[in-house]
Amino acid sequence: MEFLSVYQKYIDNALIDANQGESPQGLYAPIDYLLSLGGKRLRPSLVLMACEAYGKAPDSALPAAKALEIFHNFTLMHDDIMDNAAMRRGEQTVHEKWNINTAILSGDAMLVQAYKCLDGYAPELFKSLTKLLSKTALEVCEGQQYDVDFESRTDVGIEEYLEMIRLKTAVLVGCAMQMGAEIGGASIEDAEQLYTFGEQLGIAFQLQDDYLDTFGDEASFGKRIGGDIAENKKTILVHLVFQNGTPEQCHKLNELLAQTPKDCTQKIIEVTQLFKDAAVDNATLKQVHFYTQKAFEALNKVNLSKEAKQRFVAFGEGLMLRTH
Ligand code: IPE
Ligand code: IPE
Ligand code: MG
Ligand code: MG
Ligand code: MG
Repeated sequence: MEFLSVYQKYIDNALIDANQGESPQGLYAPIDYLLSLGGKRLRPSLVLMACEAYGKAPDSALPAAKALEIFHNFTLMHDDIMDNAAMRRGEQTVHEKWNINTAILSGDAMLVQAYKCLDGYAPELFKSLTKLLSKTALEVCEGQQYDVDFESRTDVGIEEYLEMIRLKTAVLVGCAMQMGAEIGGASIEDAEQLYTFGEQLGIAFQLQDDYLDTFGDEASFGKRIGGDIAENKKTILVHLVFQNGTPEQCHKLNELLAQTPKDCTQKIIEVTQLFKDAAVDNATLKQVHFYTQKAFEALNKVNLSKEAKQRFVAFGEGLMLRTH
């Protein structure tokens, strides 16, 4: 993903091995481990880009960028416990490598570290950034709870699903854009439109994550393929079967969702085949495109030059081509 490479090194330098030598290592080593496994650094890149778009040097946005990447990694550490996931970024998840208690406490510490990154901002900006982070963080928790609740519900509608992914994933992307814009000195109107741009892009991003969880390649995606099927996640693929599939396909999917085998290999094969038969793989990619376009509509309303906006368009278009 070349469109990100400008910032990846800059962000990595600020994050990797930041806790080296800190005691106790049992708390800090898992943090450095997860942060060193790479990741696309999308959210911090957007913070820096949004700040730069208003003519301010990216250095001034680096603490906020770090805060959001550490916060994101905290959510991943806990999400992997909640989703029974053994693989993250192609390596063992923290609770697999260490244990669940470690992943809980190191994750908690990361949430605090994320807030600490904002300490150095001037009082007015500090207040506004922490307020936005708190609102966003609580929304992410709400989204995560809906996601878990939906695993055992059979009556989840597509609107509820879209609201769930807006909360668990999209608001943080919106937050990244708004933080960068505020640090850069954008008007309130622009900061709000850029939030909407990030939010809609975040919805597209989670839809694509759902797609890749079934149709991606494990080596590049870095997560176990079929994990969502094994956990009975009500992903966009499931919703589109119920929306577009034949009555037989819907019935078959309901039957498969009711199964809770110890070994999910066969279930994953059958559900994946059903998704293909109902052509919800391509239908999902169309939705990714739709929400990316909605993001661009919000971007169009922002008072920035065409060239500045073009960088965000390239970012959104680059995301649609991702395989990880
Ligand atoms: C994974 O986020 C969690 C979701 C919101 C889908 P990313 O796909 O941004 O994960 P990394 O940071 O690049 O590994
Ligand atoms: C991630 O949703 C949302 C958060 C971590 C808050 P997923 O559970 O789909 O993310 P992955 O696929 O494990 O990265
Ligand atoms: Mg999850
Ligand atoms: Mg997960
Ligand atoms: Mg996922």
